[in-house]
Amino acid sequence: MAPTWQSLLATSPDALDHVLFHRSRNLTGPSVVSDYLTAQFRNPGDILSVLLLLGPDIVQRAVAQLAGRAVTPVAFFFRLGCLCHGQLIPDADVGNTIVVDADTGHRRETKSWVLSRLLRDANNRLDSSMKGEAAHMPPMTEEDIHNPTNQLKYTHHSGPPKQAWEALRVTIYEVNKSPPCLHGVPTLDWVWYSGFVVILLQLVIATLAWALANNWGTFLVTCSGNLLAIVGGSLPQWRQEKWACPKSGGATVILTQGNGSRHAIVVIGQRKEKIGLDLEILARGTRTTQASWTTRIASAVLAFLWVILLITVSGLEENSWYLLGIGLLGSIQNLLAAGAPRDPSALGVHLTYKDVIRADRVAEVLKAAEKYRPGLGISLLDIFFPGSLRVKDEDLKFWREALRSRHAPNKYGTPVNRIPFAECPIDRIDEKASEPNDDIPAIGLGTFQPDPSKYPTKSVKQSVLWALKAGYRHFDTSLRYGDGQGEREVGEALRESNIPREEIFVVTKLENVYHSPEDVEVNLDTSLKNLGLDYVDLFIMHFPYAYKKTANYGTERDANGRPIIDIDLSRSFNVTWTAMEKLVEAKKTMYIGLSNFSSPKIKRLLQTAKIKPAVNQIECHPHWPQKGLVKLCQDNGIHVTAFGPLGCMPIPSLVGRTGPGPLEDDTIALVARKYSRTPAQVILCYLLCRGISVIPKSNDEARIVQNYDCIFDMEESDFTLIDNIAGKDGERGVRNLNTLDYLGFDNYNEEVEEP
Ligand SMILES: NC(=O)c1ccc[n+]([C@@H]2O[C@H](COP(=O)([O-])OP(=O)(O)OC[C@H]3O[C@@H](n4cnc5c(N)ncnc54)[C@H](OP(=O)(O)O)[C@@H]3O)[C@@H](O)[C@H]2O)c1
Repeated sequence: MAPTWQSLLATSPDALDHVLFHRSRNLTGPSVVSDYLTAQFRNPGDILSVLLLLGPDIVQRAVAQLAGRAVTPVAFFFRLGCLCHGQLIPDADVGNTIVVDADTGHRRETKSWVLSRLLRDANNRLDSSMKGEAAHMPPMTEEDIHNPTNQLKYTHHSGPPKQAWEALRVTIYEVNKSPPCLHGVPTLDWVWYSGFVVILLQLVIATLAWALANNWGTFLVTCSGNLLAIVGGSLPQWRQEKWACPKSGGATVILTQGNGSRHAIVVIGQRKEKIGLDLEILARGTRTTQASWTTRIASAVLAFLWVILLITVSGLEENSWYLLGIGLLGSIQNLLAAGAPRDPSALGVHLTYKDVIRADRVAEVLKAAEKYRPGLGISLLDIFFPGSLRVKDEDLKFWREALRSRHAPNKYGTPVNRIPFAECPIDRIDEKASEPNDDIPAIGLGTFQPDPSKYPTKSVKQSVLWALKAGYRHFDTSLRYGDGQGEREVGEALRESNIPREEIFVVTKLENVYHSPEDVEVNLDTSLKNLGLDYVDLFIMHFPYAYKKTANYGTERDANGRPIIDIDLSRSFNVTWTAMEKLVEAKKTMYIGLSNFSSPKIKRLLQTAKIKPAVNQIECHPHWPQKGLVKLCQDNGIHVTAFGPLGCMPIPSLVGRTGPGPLEDDTIALVARKYSRTPAQVILCYLLCRGISVIPKSNDEARIVQNYDCIFDMEESDFTLIDNIAGKDGERGVRNLNTLDYLGFDNYNEEVEEP
């Protein structure tokens, strides 16, 4: 057995020296340890290089605080900031910072360094200004109101008068229209200047070491260390990551740590004037992932130079206290900078103080905030009352009105009925372009006409125009619908409406004869040309299976006129997906998604997909609720859109259902009578309650309007009634689309993949 280090020590004093001091010396007597310690204290050169390796976290935070100008004054003490996952700026070190859009109520937790520090420092200022606040007095109980002795519990103790208790404070700022420097560029405060002062002091000490002890090595190390520190901290990527957002105005947002915290900051945006940082995008942090090549190369060179510096430092055997003092000063500056409270302006966010709202009850503050600026109070309501707020009778009207106005259409007539559905797949939007919507309008218009000959020409265009007027902003089409005629008419209607492009959500599809990777882009290009658009919001693979194509993208058919399946291509939908992913990079579509995908196919796709599908568009209605598949999608963050939500248009070749559809269902009729709604409205509302967006098709104006007005308060018992029409797990369900008879395999098999 190998001897342990304890047994070695017991037998050999040399070993003790070796283990403790890593050097072998001749031991001559009991005073040797004290001799060694004295020598070590006289010149503690051994630990210099160790100290130089400590504290990368502190350094990274210090640089995160100070970066923003051409030069970042970080004093030398350390290892240079590390390049973690290609990212320089560390994630926020203050938890739970929430950023809420005060108009829409959209909420996101943020890791932004700037935003979390902004809130932390404001909270700290508030806490210190509230040091003398009175203790919180809970409201008197009914019993205590009638018992004078018990009321003593509610009186303050004697002593100097205290500040009134505040349950919540909302501090209101406005984006500064004439900032001291550009938005996203910090003002210089004492923290920043302290860097230069400390560097100067370090150089003075180093000069003394040279002058008094003739030690020019210390001077060399101090100069080189500081140079490396400043160059590393001044890499432009620090700035880019710190303010990774457009700087031409943003929405009004609220910053808070949510329920339990006692402070919220409102920043009134100047989007119209195009002034200030877009704090919502900064909060999303979607533009911070890529390290530039300059940064990567610079970091590698700096790391190399740092190693050289370390070796040099180990060579400094004498006058180590000078360098220790220099390092100590540097570490103090770094520690101070990493934690120092700062003004919003020093964080590059230039604000003007406007007002403050405070009271001893949170509900009161929210009400006052809503009165101050519509949207403010209602946006915070869900956060500070996550269950729900028990509203006093006199307040009921007020909050109803607040809710109503938040859901009112915007200036383009777009109402709020959107379902969050996906995060931006990759960072692909440049500063000038608008951000992609990460929500999908819950009610869209289907535009499939199974038999176009039945409808007057331009009927799709007419339906889209009616729908736009009614408030629809989501349109589902396909290259296959009327051989591109559907897309052309959708495009014409959109142009004619003059509604801005970014208000509309357009979906089109990859058709079965375009599954070869080289054909995928051809499909989308043709669709974009038909639509007259330069991008669609969502491009979905219409079916997982592929047809054999003829020249000019026709469908090869057998003697019975049925499409011939390209088995190999059908089984390689992952390869087709990869080609679709490239279209996101090419900015031709904001998102990509699936349609008619069963659970096993989704699972297989997820194994290789670089971009997760945003949507699976599937047949879904009360007669075919698809509970298992919907759950799988929703569990995996894939939004479900129901096609054929009213039971589908009967496509003669594909009809599976023979009996009455959901529109004729007795249970639906019963619920519809109860709420004075139509069966179509009940069905659509049921699907929306499941978090599923719907795309009913109609060519009738009244029905288009009716279908859009389908959001109402459905009682849970009625929801359950509808949910059970096809059985608790949907076991009695009947689907409309059936590939088995038509194509010879069951595309929808939930157990095994076919074909
Ligand atoms: N991804 C896919 O594979 C796929 C498959 C099929 C469909 N889709 C998409 O989903 C959309 C909707 O599906 P779908 O068109 O098959 O079926 P659907 O929307 O379920 O049903 C449309 C039928 O319902 C009627 N209708 C509409 N509103 C009504 C109301 N309020 N009361 C009574 N009847 C009403 C329509 O007639 P009128 O027009 O006369 O009002 C039409 O006959 C399609 O247009 C298409 O965009 C996608």
